[in-house]
Amino acid sequence: MYKIASIGGDGIGPEIVAEGKKVLEAAGEQFGFDIQWTDFDIGADRYIHSGKLITEDELNELSKFRAIYFGAIGDERVKPGILEKGILLALRFHFDMYINLRPIRLLKGIETPLANKTSDDIDFIVVRENTEDFYVGIGSRFRKHEKKELNVIREMYSVRFGLDVESDAEEIAYQIGVVTREGSRRVQTYAFDRAEGRKKKLTSVDKANVLSDVYGLWRDVFTETAKKYPGVTTEFTFVDAITMWFVKNPEWFDVVVTPNMFGDIITDLGAMIQGGLGLAPGGNINPKGTSMFEPIHGSAPKYRNMQVANPIATIWAGSLLLDHIGEHEAAAAVVSAIERSIQDGIVTKDLGGTARTMDAGSYIAELVKKGT
Ligand code: IPM
Ligand code: MG
Repeated sequence: MYKIASIGGDGIGPEIVAEGKKVLEAAGEQFGFDIQWTDFDIGADRYIHSGKLITEDELNELSKFRAIYFGAIGDERVKPGILEKGILLALRFHFDMYINLRPIRLLKGIETPLANKTSDDIDFIVVRENTEDFYVGIGSRFRKHEKKELNVIREMYSVRFGLDVESDAEEIAYQIGVVTREGSRRVQTYAFDRAEGRKKKLTSVDKANVLSDVYGLWRDVFTETAKKYPGVTTEFTFVDAITMWFVKNPEWFDVVVTPNMFGDIITDLGAMIQGGLGLAPGGNINPKGTSMFEPIHGSAPKYRNMQVANPIATIWAGSLLLDHIGEHEAAAAVVSAIERSIQDGIVTKDLGGTARTMDAGSYIAELVKKGT
């Protein structure tokens, strides 16, 4: 019996998580395990009515689970950043889910916008650092006459713009990226381990040519870590260049390890080359604690309760969850069933089909039960 927490969240979140649960339960029937779900009512509605984002009690409660199945967060009634930081990032940081695992794989039957590329060419994983970098939330906005300790910024401002640094008419904002040796080591080690189990190639992403402190450290740690994995071929790419290679030569990649913010950006590009955001799953992993599995897309509030959202990204995230808890066969069966459903054309509108969210989910669940 697996005890799993679930947070549907906002917009289409509850609908797609419902389909994911259906499929995971089907996998349990087929592979001989039970899942007991505990649902948490966390999201925009509650925030609007009670001002609560996520409470200490909830965090304590969630810490008892090895896995959380998460839908999406985000609502047009709430200013951007509040729910994202107060719920999603709060969970990632609180539980130190330092690995964000994002497979970029073109399933059979899906068309990629890249000309002449097939499923054989697009099959890699991105390992995104998930707790550091520009996501640590250190920064502020201030009038120049405040915060005298930030003289570097003040001087740059006055030299570059010829403005009076004491004037309060101008405003400055800054935000700091933090990279640590240990934070880099642990996520890179995970990526090396994954590469060893795959095609033994690991690409590191950075921008060490400009942001040479934070990513200089990232690079140094990578070089050191690589020494422990002589069987893995390694390379460095700058983030701007990798966006080009993702489009031109996706077949070069096996495992890609990246600092947090670049990982956020390049995985949306990855989602597009694998056929769209409706297909891209992610796992926020703490190997020794609570992990969380979610589609990488957002909550699409305008489609809420319309049964039009594609549940595949969430169902696939469910497969990552199964893999994480050790149900490897069941995990693989879920992805095969997703692929089959695509080939059978039982898909939502975004993939050219006519199935509702629940039809697409039920179809995949049936395939899993049939052992297809
Ligand atoms: C993602 C999202 C989040 C992120 C946002 C919603 C905070 O874009 O999971 O990629 O930036 O990590
Ligand atoms: Mg993102």
